Amino acid sequence: MIASRLEQFLEEGSRRVDAALDRLLPPVDVEPKTLHEAIRYSVFAGGKRFRPLLVLASAEACRLDPDSVLPVACAVEAVHTYSLIHDDLPSMDNSDWRRGQPTCHVRYGEAIAVLAGDALHDMAFEWVVAAADRLGPPDRVLGVVLDLARALGTEGMVGGQVLDLLAERGQVPPDWVPEIHRRKTGCLVRACARVGPLLAGDPQALACLTAYGEHLGLAFQITDDVLDVVGHPDKLGKRPGADEAKVTYPKVFGLDAARQMALQEAERAVEALRPLGPRGDLLADLARFVVDRER
Ligand code: IPE
Ligand code: IPE
Ligand code: MG
Ligand code: MG
Ligand code: MG
Repeated sequence: MIASRLEQFLEEGSRRVDAALDRLLPPVDVEPKTLHEAIRYSVFAGGKRFRPLLVLASAEACRLDPDSVLPVACAVEAVHTYSLIHDDLPSMDNSDWRRGQPTCHVRYGEAIAVLAGDALHDMAFEWVVAAADRLGPPDRVLGVVLDLARALGTEGMVGGQVLDLLAERGQVPPDWVPEIHRRKTGCLVRACARVGPLLAGDPQALACLTAYGEHLGLAFQITDDVLDVVGHPDKLGKRPGADEAKVTYPKVFGLDAARQMALQEAERAVEALRPLGPRGDLLADLARFVVDRER
């Protein structure tokens, strides 16, 4: 059977991202060995690489060489993996299984898990800045760095994670769930989608991909919530039902409505690409993949 264009892109893209990550991450025979082992344990456990693939697709849509943005693709996977390691900690979601294996803190202890996350966060910015010369004019590279920092901070992922925990404790009302999802997951997805147009200096594509990224981020996290209810542990690589105490889309709106909302957000993401014409085709396929996935 001939692989679809999307399947080919996902497979080849993840291979390139993994090879680049392997080149960038410190080797395990360099001290502190335990730290480097823990980092590689979590990074190479078999994630979907959705965020780095989105960076590559965004670059391609803006007619940039996808290989040239590999350092940024690796950076977003590094910060994403950091967010997962910290998300699983006993003081947060207290999850013992991730990407088909025991979580980082279960395998290496809490202190190393916290520090592995910290190091991944720092390396991400190091990689982007170290590659600046090859990425484009300095002001555009700075735009990407600023976007990424904002997507991760209190306005973005970290703020969203705090709201998520407060909602679980009843300290934030359930109708904040769209805002929680926008911040904890949506902001990073949006930043990934914006990398291509920011580096290409393409305002029309930037407007399209900003809207696309916002809808796609929401579609992604709603689907994650749905999979927590209906997903299979072998496929997911994490334990379903982990979000039982959480404020999620299925909890607030019901399972069927949540599914519909994810589909609707994916459609809106595709719609936002319309002005780009065929340049947006791969990104549109990626949006459909997000809501069709089983893992
Ligand atoms: C899980 O992300 C956490 C969310 C923000 C929903 P992914 O579903 O992308 O996890 P991996 O990278 O494939 O393991
Ligand atoms: C996590 O959301 C979002 C992050 C920023 C890591 P979840 O807590 O739902 O992610 P999973 O289901 O554990 O992967
Ligand atoms: Mg969480
Ligand atoms: Mg979690
Ligand atoms: Mg989840």
